[in-house]
Amino acid sequence: MRILILHGPNLNLLGEREPQVYGTMTLPELNAEIDRFATQREVEVQIRQSNHEGELIDLIQEQRGWAQGIVINPGALTHYSYALRDAIAAVGLPAVEVHLSDIKGREPFRRRSVIKPVCLGQIVGGGVRSYLAGIELLLKEGKQWSR
Ligand code: DQA
Repeated sequence: MRILILHGPNLNLLGEREPQVYGTMTLPELNAEIDRFATQREVEVQIRQSNHEGELIDLIQEQRGWAQGIVINPGALTHYSYALRDAIAAVGLPAVEVHLSDIKGREPFRRRSVIKPVCLGQIVGGGVRSYLAGIELLLKEGKQWSR
């Protein structure tokens, strides 16, 4: 399976950004874990990070022919980006929304996801394990999933 892994705004600062919430692992370290897991599970991944909503949308559109699934941590765009939600719905690929932190146990504004309704699943609170579980979910249910 070919999976596009997307990290949204501010995730490039992992390691120095609010370590009490997001841990001390840097983005390159996190990506290395994802790569290692993908190799083990014989999955091809492309991993990209952007601080820009439009760039994430462009990536989803550009990779729609290559990718067979998407694992996305949309960062704060989770809570308000209808444009990102529409992009995921538009390409029709199975997508899993993932978060490092437990968005349900933090500030009230983080409890709402406008992305979740167009996804196959949402996985929160596991740190890097959220991404790995996202890949697992796509492997298990991605092929037979349709919106
Ligand atoms: C996050 C949670 C979001 O609410 C926040 O804006 C982020 C990171 C997470 O992975 O826990 O940037 O997506």
